Amino acid sequence: MPYQESPHYVDETPGTKYYCTCGESANKPYCDGSHETKNTGKSPMEFEVKSACRMVICDCGKSKTSPKCDGSHSE
Ligand code: FES
Repeated sequence: MPYQESPHYVDETPGTKYYCTCGESANKPYCDGSHETKNTGKSPMEFEVKSACRMVICDCGKSKTSPKCDGSHSE
């Protein structure tokens, strides 16, 4: 499952999240361990969500504000 050219809209809850950065997770935007089984050489991004909010999570791998989408997928 490769990177996609659109972000994920997620209603997040507070806590520590691990977002996929390799593009291979079957549970995007979250890491499911595929980066290891598929030997991608990447690791998940740990991110602390302070309070419940709607987040837009990058899935193209190009965002400069990762894990948040910055619109780079449409450039
Ligand atoms: S599955 Fe992609 S970073 Fe873990």
